[in-house]
Amino acid sequence: MGVSDKSASSGGVTTSLVKLLCIASSVLALPTYDETSEKLSIDEITKIYQDVLTSSNNAGDWLKTYTQEQHLAGQNYHLAEFTAQRFEEFGFKAKFENFSVYINYPVENSIKVLEPNEDGSYELTYQPTLVEDELEEDPTTSGEGLVPAFHGYSANGNVTAELVFANYGTKEDFALLAENNIDLEGKIVIVRYGGIFRGLKVKFAQEAGALGVITYSDPADDYSPPDAEPYPKGPGRNPSSIQRGSVQFLSSLPGDPSRFTDRSPEALSNLTTIPRIPSLPISYKEAIPILETLNGYGSDLGFKGGVSTFNYTTGPSSAKINLYNNVEYDFTNITNVYGLIEGQEADKVVIIGNHRDAWVKGGAGDPNSGSAVLLELARGLNELFKQGYKPRYSILLASWDGEEYALLGSTSYAEKYAAKLDKQAVGYINVDVAVGGTHLELAGSPLFNQLLLDQGSLVTHPDTNVSLTERFLNESEILILGSGSDYTTFYEHLGIPSIDLGFNPGLGDPVYHYHSNYDSYHWISTFADPGFKYHNALAQYLGLLTLKLTEEKLLKSYSTSDYASAVAGYFSTLVSTIPQDWLNQTVVLDDDIIAPYSYSEDNLTSTDVTVLRDLITATNDTLSILEEVAKHHDEEKEYLQSQWDESVSTSSSPITKTLFDKRVATINDKSRNFEKQFLYEGGLKSREWFKHIVYASGRYTGYAGQSLPGLTEALEDDSFDEAARWIHILQVAAQRAIASLV
Ligand SMILES: *[C@@H]1O[C@H](CO)[C@@H](O)[C@H](O)[C@H]1NC(C)=O
Ligand SMILES: *[C@@H]1O[C@H](CO)[C@@H](O)[C@H](O)[C@H]1NC(C)=O
Ligand SMILES: *[C@@H]1O[C@H](CO)[C@@H](O)[C@H](O)[C@H]1NC(C)=O
Ligand SMILES: *[C@@H]1O[C@H](CO)[C@@H](O)[C@H](O)[C@H]1NC(C)=O
Ligand SMILES: *[C@@H]1O[C@H](CO)[C@@H](O)[C@H](O)[C@H]1NC(C)=O
Ligand SMILES: *[C@@H]1O[C@H](CO)[C@@H](O)[C@H](O)[C@H]1NC(C)=O
Ligand SMILES: *[C@@H]1O[C@H](CO)[C@@H](O)[C@H](O)[C@H]1NC(C)=O
Ligand SMILES: *[C@@H]1O[C@H](CO)[C@@H](O)[C@H](O)[C@H]1NC(C)=O
Ligand SMILES: *[C@@H]1O[C@H](CO)[C@@H](O)[C@H](O)[C@H]1NC(C)=O
Ligand SMILES: *[C@@H]1O[C@H](CO)[C@@H](O)[C@H](O)[C@H]1NC(C)=O
Repeated sequence: MGVSDKSASSGGVTTSLVKLLCIASSVLALPTYDETSEKLSIDEITKIYQDVLTSSNNAGDWLKTYTQEQHLAGQNYHLAEFTAQRFEEFGFKAKFENFSVYINYPVENSIKVLEPNEDGSYELTYQPTLVEDELEEDPTTSGEGLVPAFHGYSANGNVTAELVFANYGTKEDFALLAENNIDLEGKIVIVRYGGIFRGLKVKFAQEAGALGVITYSDPADDYSPPDAEPYPKGPGRNPSSIQRGSVQFLSSLPGDPSRFTDRSPEALSNLTTIPRIPSLPISYKEAIPILETLNGYGSDLGFKGGVSTFNYTTGPSSAKINLYNNVEYDFTNITNVYGLIEGQEADKVVIIGNHRDAWVKGGAGDPNSGSAVLLELARGLNELFKQGYKPRYSILLASWDGEEYALLGSTSYAEKYAAKLDKQAVGYINVDVAVGGTHLELAGSPLFNQLLLDQGSLVTHPDTNVSLTERFLNESEILILGSGSDYTTFYEHLGIPSIDLGFNPGLGDPVYHYHSNYDSYHWISTFADPGFKYHNALAQYLGLLTLKLTEEKLLKSYSTSDYASAVAGYFSTLVSTIPQDWLNQTVVLDDDIIAPYSYSEDNLTSTDVTVLRDLITATNDTLSILEEVAKHHDEEKEYLQSQWDESVSTSSSPITKTLFDKRVATINDKSRNFEKQFLYEGGLKSREWFKHIVYASGRYTGYAGQSLPGLTEALEDDSFDEAARWIHILQVAAQRAIASLV
């Protein structure tokens, strides 16, 4: 077995000599950066940017424009043009890019409750409207461009069957039903929203043999008190609100589900990452009579919710439900809009993305609060451009289309330009819902933990006198990335370090009407963010993150030591749960475990026979070495920075500066490429597109992140061979990561 015995000390004599030769031969081919004395310091840049945003706030104006007309994926070129015009106005070079994707649009729908008569016939006793109430106070709840209740990527169908209640429709809920002999074969399943991504609820129902799925929003899952006056009078849930959304199987494969097929009718009817059974969403008001058909039927499995006239028994009902879903599938152009400002090192780029498409005419929180913040970022940066500022790295603003269906625009882009991004991307920052509430949520690569906290400490929280960071640390912690927004392909497929941020709804906030007509300009300006203070704070924060990433001479924002400690931490936590009787079992290490990151040279492989305990110890040792090497790497960046500050920056010798810059470029590239060492070409089990071995979306959750997914799943599945395989893959990846830093 090939435990690396590379020590933490970097560069022996030979390596240094090689480095020196490299330096000599490429002196003339260096990227140049104008570090003249009149250049603005990062503090000055930060101040100019923040002054623009603290003295003016246009977020509400942008938001108003984005939320007045329907903008389902592929359905609104006008807002693409509006976005491009603003990018141009603010000094960015704008570009459109279309991708043809396979998606569905709603045509017709209905749900019917059919009660049995004594003679065995069935009678229609209830038919919900499946329409949200029009509100006088809120103009985007009526008129043209309303989107019917439907699920993106839902299947066509007209099915009639008895009903079963499956709680949240999680893997555990379906297992509990099975244990209690509640057969789902040939039934229609009703599930409440929450817990996991809705597409997985449909997937599990389909796997259990169900014919169709109804999803509703149970009032017990709202964080606002149940007696809160409903919207539009108060902050409570409007009982007629309906949550639309995609039912694609996100944790299996995001992106256009047809892209790896020949797009023939046979192939399209055979896709495995979208449902085969129909589904529809419904409001809780209209779900009540349907749920009541279950009273007195089936078992009480301890499911509890907020509908007082429903006992939360499982069914099956004696009544039958007819579910009819008519959607039209076709190929449609979606349109990404990009805004580029070229940096002095034009071939390195920081990308900031937000999607533009929404499930409803408004879409004020999701996603257009983020779109407004993106334009505020552009406006703030424009003031710097006007003062002659040219960023060190290029900045690319991306307004994605088709996120709601399956991260379509961002995935199309990231896959198409993967090779270029590999060489150029410094990082990806995502803003989806910028403001859905008042609780800051931060998720990202642990490389960026300190960056997030440092920059957040420079922005004042809208409702207190403390900084965003101080408030944040009081109530939360930085999460790992899962899925559910556009960072997914950049991070989990390409290994580009990413961040996702926004103010989320939580305790004390008005109920966020997610994917409903009531996620509107009126709602956000009246209840969620009057005065657009949270939008403004997030725009400041986003700018400070961007500027730090683009301006640092040394990529100190990449804390490889934080990353290495995080990985070692996940590993020891998981290892402590490995069954004791596995430890002495023999492992045959697989030669086929190739370099996780195929763009690199000298793949480290090993073939040997050992016992699991030794493999664990060896991997643990490798991770410890990685921690030391990473610490050393980060210290070297600090050292180079101090050298620059103390002497090199003022040196009059061009050759000194050039040689120094070569060292900087080399070490920055090591930082930039570090996380990619944890990609594994073979991908995760049964979902090979996911290449990142440290982070993925949970296979049974969709949204929530999972650390060391391969090993975690092996333990969940009680599979010794898989556990050993994934420990070995991690070890090889960690060896690569060590090699990449020394
Ligand atoms: C879709 O976009 C492509 C290229 O971007 C364009 O050539 C084509 O005309 C567009 N199709 C439609 C129906 O607009
Ligand atoms: C759905 O199927 C039922 C019979 O099961 C039929 O009566 C009804 O017309 C169908 N609905 C549509 C819209 O095709
Ligand atoms: C449909 O799927 C099955 C099972 O995944 C596969 O064997 C078959 O080749 C597919 N057919 C087409 C036309 O793609
Ligand atoms: C709940 O179940 C109990 C026992 O079956 C029944 O007596 C009661 O009427 C049910 N409640 C409702 C609201 O139907
Ligand atoms: C992109 O597709 C839209 C139709 O959705 C079309 O109007 C537009 O001209 C296309 N743009 C480009 C740049 O091809
Ligand atoms: C903020 O500080 C000012 C002055 O120090 C004080 O009057 C005010 O109460 C503080 N507000 C909050 C929300 O702490
Ligand atoms: C932190 O939380 C405590 C207890 O909830 C609260 O009293 C305090 O005001 C909070 N501080 C900040 C900065 O939010
Ligand atoms: C595993 O093997 C070691 C040494 O070969 C032995 O001391 C230990 O008792 C064994 N553990 C188990 C759980 O069998
Ligand atoms: C490393 O593995 C990749 C992927 O299999 C392969 O393309 C490459 O040639 C290998 N490199 C070496 C030096 O073996
Ligand atoms: C892993 O290494 C650390 C530090 O080197 C040590 O504290 C820990 O006990 C080791 N864990 C295992 C499972 O070997």
